[in-house]
Amino acid sequence: MGAENTMPVTSGAAEEIRVESLLKIFDARHVLDELCFSVAAGESLVVVGASGEGKTVLLKHLIGLMSPDAGRVLIQGIDLKTASPSESIEIRKKCGMSFQEGALFDSMTVFENIAFPIRRHTRRKTREIAERVSQCLSLVRLEGIEDRRPAELSGGMRRRVGFARAIALEPEILFFDEPTTGLDPVNTAAIGRVIDHLRRELGVTVITITHDMMLAFRIADRIAMLRQGKFLIDTDPENFRRSDLPWVRAFLEGKLPEGEEDAL
Ligand SMILES: Nc1ncnc2c1ncn2[C@@H]1O[C@H](COP(=O)(O)OP(=O)(O)O)[C@@H](O)[C@H]1O
Ligand SMILES: [Mg+2]
Repeated sequence: MGAENTMPVTSGAAEEIRVESLLKIFDARHVLDELCFSVAAGESLVVVGASGEGKTVLLKHLIGLMSPDAGRVLIQGIDLKTASPSESIEIRKKCGMSFQEGALFDSMTVFENIAFPIRRHTRRKTREIAERVSQCLSLVRLEGIEDRRPAELSGGMRRRVGFARAIALEPEILFFDEPTTGLDPVNTAAIGRVIDHLRRELGVTVITITHDMMLAFRIADRIAMLRQGKFLIDTDPENFRRSDLPWVRAFLEGKLPEGEEDAL
């Protein structure tokens, strides 16, 4: 691996995630095209990009649900591909994730949904589980809704219950895929506040995938745009806002670059 693939870490904090020349090809298309970046401990990276650019594919590589055709992902220095089974389990416990769709079990109460990973991965007693579920709900600002069912909740509340479940095992890294898609502006703002709050209270590293620029500016230390398998830009929110790149302007202003009207 050449030195040109070594990306700088943006702060002095320890490196939490490192992505080296990640390549993923579907049907001859380079969805991830030797993508390189790293994320420091405690940092909040937001990855934006048009639909179908490979944002979810990237996230799946970061949590080990997909394996690359070439390149590698290191979490806290451990290569997901060559990790031993016990290392893999440890890494999985350190990562909490909240997916775009179908995050909750509809047949279970909110309590059972959040208790599920705790029961699965720990030997905590019933009372300790109840305490942890209550703490997690409080962290997402939804106290006392343990007995409700997902169908009785608004879209925004369901997302936050998904967050509560994602933090149940006290992860060090949180991944969010499109956390505000389909939500109104009020609920979108509430999700932004909850992510900020989780960062402050838990000191976690956060990677969020979204095309919601309002959310991105609210929660990001860094914003990267995925385009044709690479980061077209990877910078702090102020620089992102000032960028002259046509695709960045398109995202900020809600219109396609000149001559690219057929691109999506
Ligand atoms: N399991 C898969 N098999 C084949 N193609 C896939 C698979 N998963 C994703 N893709 C393709 O990869 C591209 C990126 O998808 P995705 O990461 O879901 O985009 P988005 O940026 O909207 O999240 C799409 O063209 C999609 O069809
Ligand atoms: Mg997606």
